[in-house]
Amino acid sequence: MNSIDYKEKLRFVKNFLKSNDAKLIAHYYVNSEIQKLAEDSGGCVADSLQMAKYGTQQKESNIIIAGVKFMGETSKILNPEKNIYVLDKDATCSLDESCDVKSFQNFIDLHPDREVVVYANTSAKVKAISDWVVTSSIAIPLVENLASKGKKIIWAPDKYLGSYIEDQTGIDMVVWNGACIVHEEYKTLELKNLIAKLGDCEVLVHPESPRSVIQLADVVGSTTKLINASQTSKAKNIIVATDSGIFYQMKKLSPEKNFHEAPTEGKGATCKSCGRCPWMNMNTYQKLINIFNSDNEIHLDDETIHFAKKSINRMIEFEDRYYIKQKRVS
Ligand code: 13P
Repeated sequence: MNSIDYKEKLRFVKNFLKSNDAKLIAHYYVNSEIQKLAEDSGGCVADSLQMAKYGTQQKESNIIIAGVKFMGETSKILNPEKNIYVLDKDATCSLDESCDVKSFQNFIDLHPDREVVVYANTSAKVKAISDWVVTSSIAIPLVENLASKGKKIIWAPDKYLGSYIEDQTGIDMVVWNGACIVHEEYKTLELKNLIAKLGDCEVLVHPESPRSVIQLADVVGSTTKLINASQTSKAKNIIVATDSGIFYQMKKLSPEKNFHEAPTEGKGATCKSCGRCPWMNMNTYQKLINIFNSDNEIHLDDETIHFAKKSINRMIEFEDRYYIKQKRVS
């Protein structure tokens, strides 16, 4: 990032946001320039759940989400009175795309005795036909809590996060067959080789990764949990199996450490330079400053908002109760 350019860009963005009564909220996976602009302009950078919750606390009438479509939709669901914009409406998520509402309704109908728990990486319409929405930070305690009440569970759409929850809790779920195209690419053998080569290292893995990669992890968790772990780790070398956009925050917190992308290349890989979500990559400065010139506003019908909000709010209430008890950062 060229610092002179950046100063000019920041000045422009600050004025732009102020004159449009807008706030910029970014996900940890967007490029470092957008993350920095969000931080320096008085907005925030956060994980998917914190992004939506943060929006509810802002006075501005326009919220700009730098991330992917489901994040904009979640923000709209929690802030229906505000105008919510995304930098590019075509920036989606393979998990969201894998789970269209019609097919998912048919799947639910096959298991009428089960509680429906969906990951935040789903469309607003899928959230609206589900009982619970969860993010990776709260999935395990929530599923455990439901199971302790004798509930049987449908989990969607991420099969890897689903199998991770099953492995951790011993709870059997009916799982939808979706995957994240970035995390699915991490390679076990190459990761083992990198661990052996580095020696003094710690491995941080997002639970959207395959089971054999998760098994090599020192820490498994949401983007927030991985960032915290990168800071508290005593290791000199940190290997990270999640989108490389996260390195901006990790390097900022621990400039003395060496960060390594978990390997994706090797036999069977479809994307040698991966570790990068193509949709997160669509969030650019040019799109930010032109946001009000094109059709970037998220619109959802009232019924979808009403029902999706119920499922999200149940998670938020559970999360508030859970963290008051546990005082745990997840
Ligand atoms: P977090 O909820 O951990 O931010 O993850 C969001 C996501 O899209 C992971 O691929």
